[in-house]
Amino acid sequence: SIAYLNGEYLPLDEARVSVLDRGFLFADGIYEVSAVLDGHLVDNQSHLARFERSLGEIFLPLPAPMSRVEEIEKELITRNGVKEGVVYMQVTRGVAPRDFHFPENVKPTLLMFTQAKTIIDSPTAKSGIKAKTLEDIRWARRDIKSIALLAQVLAKQAAHEAGCQEAWMVEDGFVTEGGSSSVFIITKNNVLVTRPNSHALLPGCTRKAILALAAEKNIRVEERPFTVAEALDAAEAFFTSASAFVTPVVTIDDQAIGDGTPGPTTKRLREIYIDFAR
Ligand code: PDD
Repeated sequence: SIAYLNGEYLPLDEARVSVLDRGFLFADGIYEVSAVLDGHLVDNQSHLARFERSLGEIFLPLPAPMSRVEEIEKELITRNGVKEGVVYMQVTRGVAPRDFHFPENVKPTLLMFTQAKTIIDSPTAKSGIKAKTLEDIRWARRDIKSIALLAQVLAKQAAHEAGCQEAWMVEDGFVTEGGSSSVFIITKNNVLVTRPNSHALLPGCTRKAILALAAEKNIRVEERPFTVAEALDAAEAFFTSASAFVTPVVTIDDQAIGDGTPGPTTKRLREIYIDFAR
């Protein structure tokens, strides 16, 4: 597979970055993930806008205009023949002797690559997944898509060891989001509930699209925090992300949600999102 690194296209397994890269030493960088469906990017402007915002929040200059980033994304999709999958991109503050404050006159490191992945016919989309709740131990600026993902790695590993496929992170009794996804419930009186955007969670691009599509289809929506107890009592639950679209959640902490199978509104929203993505 071909990657892009600092102006060059090269085989991914030959791409090299210095051990002094601030991404390696400090996790001083930002990343973004866009889906590819039928060979084209999905909702990419939303991802590029979030990429630009995240970079700005950590005072990292754009390595290239976003229009150029999009050209590289498309070039990688073509070169790698990606039909379904994701484009990953990350910018770090660059290579410099180790010191905390920002180095001067250093060029940011821009890395981009693609991964093929089954999204539409993913088995978990049919079966739904199991979620495990965990304390959200992350920092206070989760709205920034930082490459510092240790808390998510630990949460998702704990979920994995418990036989679950996603972590639902919880702060002060309220669910913040998934380990790498936004989370939603559908109450017994058919209201779609998700936590409002704030510094406590990443503003999901798929989340944003789903809220707009749900409103269009006259599905009742409430943006408000919800507790684990309310989620356990919900009729349906699901998570969203660029790489998994809408994925049903059928158990939380081994308790069945609704009848323990993917719910009708979840399935409908998945279909609506797929139509939007096509
Ligand atoms: N994760 N919340 C977190 C913490 C995430 O890492 C992600 C995405 C989302 C969903 O955002 P979006 O719908 O824009 O993908 C929410 C990506 C896919 C990842 O880390 O691979």
